[in-house]
Amino acid sequence: MTYDFDTANDRRGTASTKWDRYESRYHLTDVIPLWVADMDFNCLPEVSQAIIKRAEHGIFGYTDVVDEVYQTIIDWELKHHQNNIEKAEIVMTTGVVYAIYSLVELLVKPQEKVIVQTPVYPPFFNTPKSLERTVVYNPLLYDGSTWTMNFEDLDEQLSKDPSIRMMILCNPHNPVGRCWKYEELEKLCEICRKYHVWLVSDEIHGDLILKPHQLHSIYTMPKRYHDNLILLGSPTKTFNLAGLKISYAVIKNPKLKEALAVQAKASGLSSINIFGLEALNAAYRYGDKWLEECLDYIDHNFDYTITYLQKHLPKAVCNKPEATYMAWVDLRAMMLPADICEQLKQKGHVELQGGAGFGAGFEEWQRINLACPRATLEKGLKRMCDTLNEIKQ
Ligand SMILES: Cc1ncc(COP(=O)(O)O)c(C=O)c1O
Repeated sequence: MTYDFDTANDRRGTASTKWDRYESRYHLTDVIPLWVADMDFNCLPEVSQAIIKRAEHGIFGYTDVVDEVYQTIIDWELKHHQNNIEKAEIVMTTGVVYAIYSLVELLVKPQEKVIVQTPVYPPFFNTPKSLERTVVYNPLLYDGSTWTMNFEDLDEQLSKDPSIRMMILCNPHNPVGRCWKYEELEKLCEICRKYHVWLVSDEIHGDLILKPHQLHSIYTMPKRYHDNLILLGSPTKTFNLAGLKISYAVIKNPKLKEALAVQAKASGLSSINIFGLEALNAAYRYGDKWLEECLDYIDHNFDYTITYLQKHLPKAVCNKPEATYMAWVDLRAMMLPADICEQLKQKGHVELQGGAGFGAGFEEWQRINLACPRATLEKGLKRMCDTLNEIKQ
């Protein structure tokens, strides 16, 4: 190992969303947070060095994206996702959620609808709802070990309701951890094309693929689908840069690309942060080895978690995902009380992400973020299992 993923760097006192809310809100000082999707690993040194070098310049005015950065994105997308993209197809964005917001505003009229596949990252439905667009659901199917898309239901809903104008896809899927197969995505593209539905593929977790799986990015689908597709990419999950607000949209339909570029300029969506640009450039240029080792570390954390839960919480069902650093744990067999998240936090001093936020019907699930040093994970899992076992005694 070249990089150290074992050493815990104390994040308390850094205004961290994940770590810094317990004292002020709950008067608790030692909660292990295994919820929101950021990593407790130090990012790769070249990223910090690039930011420091830029900071030393001392002038931080408005910033344009230079060709070198576009080329870095183009090279990364080709090398890691087999995507052939061009500069003219890229719109830089200050966050994937903000890009989703803008796309919904641009492409879905107030009386029209967006469709999403629950359980899913909450802004997929909360963001369109905040714009007063109706959200409809095409829940994933679960057979006890694997999650799949319900194509029949999707086809039926789109055929009956032409006001559904956009589908937001999580590729790979947070929280269920599916790395969608080529055939699954092709089928999805076919259905969306048949009903003239925009397909937005959020690929923010697209580099976090566990062996032996492989991402099928949306633009590796046949060309006949490209006019309907929008890819949202970012280095922020991959390299733990979420506070730097940097991401990009790739749009091969030139009219649509232009429309988003105009909207992004008007709303400030494309007004990029200097340090975000430096971080993206350094991470995509020098991050291959860091990412490979990080994924190995996360893979071992999954093995550790599954073995630990089997031993200490046998009624919990936790299958190894194909992608992301999230374990999606089925606790239905434990029949836990509705306030379990609060109890875990207040009694157990550990915070997981309750399933209720990912869509109706997932109240008895928990998502656990495994992108942390093993020692933090061991402590967090012990607290989780001890607390749940105590409640069930
Ligand atoms: C699927 C998905 N999309 C988007 C985001 C957030 O993206 P951003 O921070 O760029 O808005 C997350 C964060 O967890 C996510 O899981």
